[in-house]
Amino acid sequence: MRPILDKHRFGPWAVVTGSSSGIGKAIARHLGSSGINVVLVARREAELERVGAELTRDFSVDYRVVQADLSAPSFFDEVERATRELDVGLIVGNAGFASPGEFLTLEREELLRAVRLKVDANLTLVHHFGRRLVARKRGGILLVSSIGGLAGVPYVAHTAGVEAYVLNLGEGLHVELEPRGVHVTVLMPGPTLTESMAKMGVDPSDMPLKPMSAERCAAEGLSALARNRATHVAGRVNRIMAKLMPRAVATSMMGAMIGKKFAHESLANSRGATRALTGK
Ligand SMILES: NC(=O)c1ccc[n+]([C@@H]2O[C@H](COP(=O)([O-])OP(=O)(O)OC[C@H]3O[C@@H](n4cnc5c(N)ncnc54)[C@H](OP(=O)(O)O)[C@@H]3O)[C@@H](O)[C@H]2O)c1
Repeated sequence: MRPILDKHRFGPWAVVTGSSSGIGKAIARHLGSSGINVVLVARREAELERVGAELTRDFSVDYRVVQADLSAPSFFDEVERATRELDVGLIVGNAGFASPGEFLTLEREELLRAVRLKVDANLTLVHHFGRRLVARKRGGILLVSSIGGLAGVPYVAHTAGVEAYVLNLGEGLHVELEPRGVHVTVLMPGPTLTESMAKMGVDPSDMPLKPMSAERCAAEGLSALARNRATHVAGRVNRIMAKLMPRAVATSMMGAMIGKKFAHESLANSRGATRALTGK
């Protein structure tokens, strides 16, 4: 693993949310290989401890674990307390989850949790650490959104909506903070092999294109941050599609792909309901 970031600009400490698995864990490892110490934030403490111990073993960097639910308002005190004494040069807002399914069938509480995680938590952390980075006149903010944030996506409509907030926040801050010495980049992964793909119920072998590895996606995002790009779509084919495809075409194409699965499920559900009602 080669170093990607300059530890003098983006170190000595970085904070990475959602670093217990997937893209966040891969980002933490790339930071470790760049000689940057990492504050690991997520809910699964044992996983975070494992990731941290591997960082020290493989790259001789230090780590801290903050076990926090970022969709609960109390998370900020925990993160602030753990990082007060540290010279933080990079904040990575990566934690997230997808809520696939027909919008009206999803639980409202789950949808609100996604808003608290993707909107409130990123807003709070970027506001807090952004001020600290500007005061030290160097550092970075990497926000993980999704190619789904570029246009409406049927059957993951709410997820695409909150990803759009992350994308627009980062794109605007990129320009605001550039003259203050702070790089801001939004990473937009396409399909990537992580736990969240399994949680979405997606079988990688059914996909028209092979999903990307979390390590590659993380490396692309951090390289884009080093070059101070406003946004980066991970993967060459995804980049070409994102550039060439009009929004309306992207929405109907993704809707057709994802919709097949949910249309099938809702048909099965409605047949089940009819059977239950009519006994036929
Ligand atoms: N994989 C893809 O195909 C794909 C595509 C586009 C965008 N993305 C984005 O990439 C980011 C990383 O996802 P991933 O694919 O790497 O999935 P993942 O392996 O499931 O990782 C999600 C991370 O977020 C953390 N997290 C979730 N809810 C949390 C909460 N309430 N509080 C604190 N941490 C929480 C999880 O940790 P705990 O469970 O330990 O809390 C985990 O570390 C997400 O923002 C996702 O939207 C992924």
